[in-house]
Amino acid sequence: MTTITLISGSPSKQSKTAEIANRLQKELLKRGHHVHLIHVRDLPAEDLLHAKFDSEAIAQTHEWIREADAVMVLSPVYKGSYTGILKAFLDLLPEKAFLGKIIAPIVTGGTIAHLLSIEYALKPIFSIMGAKEILHGVFILDKTIQRDETGEIFFPSDIEERIKEVLQSISNTQTLI
Ligand SMILES: Cc1cc2nc3c(=O)[nH]c(=O)nc-3n(C[C@H](O)[C@H](O)[C@H](O)COP(=O)(O)O)c2cc1C
Repeated sequence: MTTITLISGSPSKQSKTAEIANRLQKELLKRGHHVHLIHVRDLPAEDLLHAKFDSEAIAQTHEWIREADAVMVLSPVYKGSYTGILKAFLDLLPEKAFLGKIIAPIVTGGTIAHLLSIEYALKPIFSIMGAKEILHGVFILDKTIQRDETGEIFFPSDIEERIKEVLQSISNTQTLI
């Protein structure tokens, strides 16, 4: 069974990115995977802000990342990059926390002008952290996110297709270390 950990890096309470993470978690569970979901906004702010390396709450999330064959990292674009709380979280991880893992970035943004933030902001840090393979990822324009009658979010067909491809790519992953 493939183990997948999702990290959602929006600080916002009403976060579209967090909702996408929730939806992806459900889809991965339906596919029979073992899934952990980390909403960084729910971790103790003090521990993140003061880089508390011995934080118990954060240690649990590190274990989930260690167990994972693949990690999906979700963030809104903030100031042309990913969010500060996601960086604070990544900073507390061991240096090579992504060693041998497949990493899939999923980014939401307000303007397509920042599409390349996946390439220049996220991918280099995944590479530094030892990622074996970094998938192309998906950039989702916030205004294209819609809801169905049950309140579940959905996207334009091309984005739905990209997400399906990403889920397929990580579905048969096994840790390569
Ligand atoms: C502080 C802040 C900075 C932002 N900076 C950018 C930006 O530089 N580029 C961009 O495309 N969108 C930017 N946005 C828009 C968000 O990326 C976008 O609305 C995203 O979908 C919000 O995700 P969330 O609901 O999960 O927080 C910014 C939003 C906020 C609140």
